Amino acid sequence: MNASQEKASAALQVRGLGKSFMGVAALQDVDFTLTQGTILGLIGPNGSGKSTALDCVTGFVRPDAGQILLDGRSVFGKAPHTIARSGLARTFQTVRLYDELTLDEHIDLALRGLTRSKRSHGGRRRTDTDRARAWLTLFGLERLRTAPAGILSYGQKKLLTLASVLGAQPRIAMLDEPLAGVNPRVIDLILDAVLQANREGQTFLIIEHNVEFITSCCSSVVVLDAGRKLAEGPPSVIWEDPAVYEAFLGRKAEHNAN
Ligand SMILES: Nc1ncnc2c1ncn2[C@@H]1O[C@H](COP(=O)(O)OP(=O)(O)OP(=O)(O)O)[C@@H](O)[C@H]1O
Ligand SMILES: [Mg+2]
Repeated sequence: MNASQEKASAALQVRGLGKSFMGVAALQDVDFTLTQGTILGLIGPNGSGKSTALDCVTGFVRPDAGQILLDGRSVFGKAPHTIARSGLARTFQTVRLYDELTLDEHIDLALRGLTRSKRSHGGRRRTDTDRARAWLTLFGLERLRTAPAGILSYGQKKLLTLASVLGAQPRIAMLDEPLAGVNPRVIDLILDAVLQANREGQTFLIIEHNVEFITSCCSSVVVLDAGRKLAEGPPSVIWEDPAVYEAFLGRKAEHNAN
């Protein structure tokens, strides 16, 4: 693919992304492209910069350097709600909810954050709410719909945010560790949901430590290590890369040996 073809098919282009916290580099010169209609995995050891990268592209953290193009337009340093309006929705690794709002109210809020024209299927319809509620039911949260979110367990809170994003069907969904803390039975439901939404045209960026999940749904994977891009490619190639093996398992083996 030449540069102009890549630009045309890119939902998101990140170039030279850099971010330091108190003088410590969390991201250095990171490049990646999220191609429209695909599922990109963002993986790496703990502390490698995955959530920071997602926070930078969604406006929750202001990057120090680089370019972030959403549909070819710069969103560098823009506010989260401005970026969300171009059709991007996300979940957080550390769940952010309003304790006093009910589950139904959270769903309504999530649906309101996206403008009509920027949903993967066109206008907002009543079915958006129905779809999100159907996810609540599948995730076993139906009976809690009118309860305040503050009473939910950690896993239930993760499922509520996931139901909101899946129901809203944004053009681009970014999920930060969607499987962490959820029951293994639910993992297959989430995998099916992501694959189904992707078949309908939705683009995904997914951070996840679950290798099987990443292998099952991602066409391409970007590996971060200590804030730098270590490797990029299809999962089958990535898992065979000795540098990736070293980054994930080398340190674990060292740790276990001590
Ligand atoms: N708000 C912050 N203030 C200071 N340091 C931060 C902040 N956010 C992230 N960092 C640091 O940046 C580095 C990358 O963190 P980040 O959360 O992006 O890693 P991660 O790859 O998502 O890790 P994990 O798999 O554990 O979620 C870490 O060293 C972390 O301590
Ligand atoms: Mg993280």
